[in-house]
Amino acid sequence: MHGEWSTRLAFILAATGSAVGLGNIWRFPYTTGEYGGGAFVLVYLLCVAGIGIPIMMAEVMLGRRGRQSPINTMRTLASEEGKSPAWQLLGWLGIVAGFTILSFYSVVAGWTLAYVFRTASGVFQGATADGVTSIFGNLVGDPERLLAWHTIFIAMTIVVVSRGVSHGLEKAVRFLMPALFVLLIAMVGYAMNTGYFAAGLEYLFTPDFSKLTTKGVLSAMGQAFFSLSLGMGAIMIYGSYLNHRTSIARTSIVIALMDSLVAIVSAMAIFPIIFANDLDPELGPGMVFKVLPIAFGHMPGGTFFGTLFFVLLVFAAWTSAISLLEPVVAWLVENRGYNRVFASAWAGVVTWLLGVVSLLSLNAWSDYKVFGMGFMGLFDFLATNILLPLGGFLIAIFAGWYLSRASSLDELNMGDRFAYRFWRALIRYVTPIAVGVVFLRAIKVL
Ligand code: PFF
Repeated sequence: MHGEWSTRLAFILAATGSAVGLGNIWRFPYTTGEYGGGAFVLVYLLCVAGIGIPIMMAEVMLGRRGRQSPINTMRTLASEEGKSPAWQLLGWLGIVAGFTILSFYSVVAGWTLAYVFRTASGVFQGATADGVTSIFGNLVGDPERLLAWHTIFIAMTIVVVSRGVSHGLEKAVRFLMPALFVLLIAMVGYAMNTGYFAAGLEYLFTPDFSKLTTKGVLSAMGQAFFSLSLGMGAIMIYGSYLNHRTSIARTSIVIALMDSLVAIVSAMAIFPIIFANDLDPELGPGMVFKVLPIAFGHMPGGTFFGTLFFVLLVFAAWTSAISLLEPVVAWLVENRGYNRVFASAWAGVVTWLLGVVSLLSLNAWSDYKVFGMGFMGLFDFLATNILLPLGGFLIAIFAGWYLSRASSLDELNMGDRFAYRFWRALIRYVTPIAVGVVFLRAIKVL
């Protein structure tokens, strides 16, 4: 009944496809700019290493042991260990987070789709920073265009999920991800010639802790969860399709390294161009759309490479969106007896509706604010900085304290050696305490 990835590589590719997406190229750079650069980057990397990797191992492990949707996996594992069935609420938390994230994710993926055509039309040729900024402003100010692109992107996601996630995913990730990475490296090459490369590196890698606020630390942690697709069951469900021979520890480390590399390289391409054009690092969510087109407008073959870049970014967003929808679709199939097509359409439509609220908050409803944020910012903040870390915290508690030592030892299959004990110490103490402390401090400030 429950499928399996054909090879270990298939799982790595699918999980990388989930991890690498708008979070790396759209979200990481502007959040870094918002919280002042180097210190934020450092905290982010520490969170990836100390919180992200152990939780990723735990999620894959729980998924592989439970072999169902996150809700049913948690219920089964809790009952096997003689623990409360309330643990299935963790799966529900993930469903809420997944809907919320996909709703605004799809809006931004819609911007990316729009930029494929914008860039191909050649409008960015020779464009100035002001010109590029106003093109972005026109797009987000137009609810009808946003709605059309958002609808197309959700439909694309429904189509793939309804056919089962392994179809085509392997190939898309195997060829398109490396292509995207090569293009990013080429953009770094362009950034090197702006004369501001050193300034960009200094901004990113020289921590100035006076700029780091509690909210910045919360956001760096949230960004680590978001970027690695952790805390909501996406990686758990991909783990549920994983065969028993694969080393969970090694694969998790590889995925986390690749994901962080893509984020860092994007920032290295973007910030020098920001400084070269006298732009403000606090450009907000429009950053990548306001900065890279300046480069495409001035480099040889820019229209071609720019179009290709946005096409590849759409693919990266698509392979992430699929993983956001998969946990709920799996649950609808398992528990409601829906077929995959109906389940995917149903979940897609719910997300679509929530996405409409997000996209209207950029224009028609821009006056409505909750805690000083528009709906899109609010959804992002709640899901990324609250729900994902909360989900991760509970995953760590379950994997470290409720799942017996014998079970995790058996499932991780790495022997009762140092590496296993190190992981267990991290997941029992370091990870939950770190997330808890950041939360508690944030509550005081928020
Ligand atoms: N990791 C994806 C990105 O960086 O774009 C976004 C994401 C996918 C977040 C899946 C959460 C998730 F469960």
